[in-house]
Amino acid sequence: LDGRSTSGTDTSQIITDVLDKMYSESGRANPYPLYAQLRELGPVVTAPDGTVLISGYAEQRAFLQDHRLTKHPGRRLAAAGWPDWRDRPSLQLMFESMLFLNPPEHTRLRRLVSAAFTPARVERMRPVVERITADLLDALPGGTVNFVEDFALPMPIAVVAALLGVPSSDWAMFQSLARDWTLVLDDISPATVERADRAAVEMGECFTRLAKDRAKHPQDDMMSVIVAAQGDDKLTGRELVTMAALLLVAGFETSSGLLSKGLVALLRHPEQAARLRAEPDLAVSAAEELIRYDSPIQLVPNRTAEEDIEVAGVKLAARQPVIAVIGAGNRDPKVFSRPEELILDRQEAPPLSFGGGVHYCLGAPLARIEAQVALPAVLRKFPDIELAGTPVPRAGHVISGLLKLPVSL
Ligand code: HEM
Repeated sequence: LDGRSTSGTDTSQIITDVLDKMYSESGRANPYPLYAQLRELGPVVTAPDGTVLISGYAEQRAFLQDHRLTKHPGRRLAAAGWPDWRDRPSLQLMFESMLFLNPPEHTRLRRLVSAAFTPARVERMRPVVERITADLLDALPGGTVNFVEDFALPMPIAVVAALLGVPSSDWAMFQSLARDWTLVLDDISPATVERADRAAVEMGECFTRLAKDRAKHPQDDMMSVIVAAQGDDKLTGRELVTMAALLLVAGFETSSGLLSKGLVALLRHPEQAARLRAEPDLAVSAAEELIRYDSPIQLVPNRTAEEDIEVAGVKLAARQPVIAVIGAGNRDPKVFSRPEELILDRQEAPPLSFGGGVHYCLGAPLARIEAQVALPAVLRKFPDIELAGTPVPRAGHVISGLLKLPVSL
């Protein structure tokens, strides 16, 4: 299982080829044949540049859960030409968030926000998700629409904004700010950082205003809970803005990818879509299967070990980069029967799409509710809905979603 023992010339060539194609437009649209090639080489392989690629399900779980693997975004940013990243509002806001921190700093922030993200509060969001879904579907103009712009983006933004307590008059503005800011996850060129900086500053001001308001007039929303925390858990003003922004960004392109790619999967499997229309009880397992079948997060990068270690029988050198290829693990035939098929009542292992270990997705229960509510609602409201063109993938492959999804209603 030693990743490096597989690196003969042919193997290196295949890995290089798979990596090149994976980031291309066609690879982003359908990476699964490439993943199959990767898995054939073994559950863990090493690329010629030393990056360890994990495609096996069990191996990914072991790596994601291993506390010796930690995140060091500063190194990556410095290597990419941004040693002064803390001076840039968009990079600071993104990379100082708990998503990029390690215990114990991570533990403190995560504990606080978990206390505000209780199962009861998330379940209380279900009727809100239903109402937002119904309003957006009612507002669709008919004919052919871009499902991404008209539904899959505004829906999750509205849900997270409602959860935080952002007034509905500001939801559209938050959508455009969050989109500009998220660009730095895919591309940290001067032009994107410039645009993202403006968005980050404006978003910071909005959240600061909201926090001040909730400190004086608490309401039944997450911002009020976070602001009310006392003692060791109390957040500084900067931490508070960073946390609110993280919730917004983590819960929007991802959920948007789930809704848009989930709809594509259903429209390409009309017999499965017909079942979902007819059987409301299928919604829970269907959402789970769509999360597995085409994960909105395809790669979990950014973890390294600080010293030489061994995980799942694989030797890892200090600072050797590791990428969990989530989309490949979700189709591991050792874990899923007929993994390439969409089977809405599948009851097998949980998908890897929400990651694992201390950074396991905080919003997983909310994302599940969004898919359980929205996808059956779309199918029922539009019995004749069909694809009206080829879906266009968005630029990134870590967060994997669509830019355009033309459907005729
Ligand atoms: C973390 C996936 C929706 C909030 C993560 C991670 C993954 C993920 C893979 C871990 C990343 C890593 O280990 O480096 C997804 C997917 C979603 C989704 C596939 C939709 C289908 C949401 C939603 C929210 C959210 C709706 C919040 C409203 C978070 C937060 C973290 C996170 C706060 C960071 C947790 C930490 O660092 O402790 N998500 N997510 N996510 N997610 Fe999600």
